[in-house]
Amino acid sequence: MQKVMHRRAGARHNFVAFIGAPFWRQTCLKCSAMLERLLLPDKHAIALLLKDHDAVKELFDRFEKTDSRSEKENIIRQALAELKVHAVIEEEIFYPAVRKTVGEKLMNEADEEHHVARVLIAELDINGRGDDHRMAKFKVLAESVRHHIKEEEGEVLPKAKELEIDFESLGRQMLDRKKELKAQGVPPDAEHAMVEHAGGKADTPAQTASSRKPMATRSSHSHSTASSKGKRKVHKVMKEHKRGTLKSGSGKKVTGRKQAVAIALSEARRSGARIPKKKK
Ligand SMILES: [Fe+2]
Ligand SMILES: [Fe+2]
Repeated sequence: MQKVMHRRAGARHNFVAFIGAPFWRQTCLKCSAMLERLLLPDKHAIALLLKDHDAVKELFDRFEKTDSRSEKENIIRQALAELKVHAVIEEEIFYPAVRKTVGEKLMNEADEEHHVARVLIAELDINGRGDDHRMAKFKVLAESVRHHIKEEEGEVLPKAKELEIDFESLGRQMLDRKKELKAQGVPPDAEHAMVEHAGGKADTPAQTASSRKPMATRSSHSHSTASSKGKRKVHKVMKEHKRGTLKSGSGKKVTGRKQAVAIALSEARRSGARIPKKKK
């Protein structure tokens, strides 16, 4: 197979010549993908996957074009719902059916790409709107899913198509499962449990690193580190309170905000921060 680039209608096309392949396959990837969509019956398993891919790519494009925060949030909600259902039908039905034909290497990569996307989806689900990295996180998810789609459409699906199975019956199974998932919700996944277990922290590696300053820096800036350490303690305790995991000294769950603030201040004092005592 020989790859060259050509330009048509202002778009960059990836030209793929299949030696000995029929004429309609001796075309660029974008054009052959378009032809593929036209030639496949509606309920063909591959046609259904391509349709899903187009729908999420359109959402990603709309996300990039809009400046409205509420529209972006709306797009995030729709895209996460679409991606979760799409991932389940691929993992439960399509991937197992084509795995052997496509080969372990490509399928393992696809599995790992699903795993990475699922972690980002879980963080977007769990951390919610208060996360200041939310928009950046969704953009990274969109980039990673676009890459995954490109690999699926360019490598996985053409190989899967060589398989001699009833793709329309597979497609019908996928549609039934899709209906079920939309009505009942997707099953819980390990990535959501993992993010939940980590406390749903919005910390990025950079934020985590800044709270883990080297010892030398700590000793030379003892005053400022004492106060930032205090702030971090207060922040940590209030976050636990918000999540409903904060417990008092006696082990009881703290429900009142006043009690949570008192615990936060006392923890901050214990960490060395100079916090004036409440006037009586
Ligand atoms: Fe896909
Ligand atoms: Fe996929």
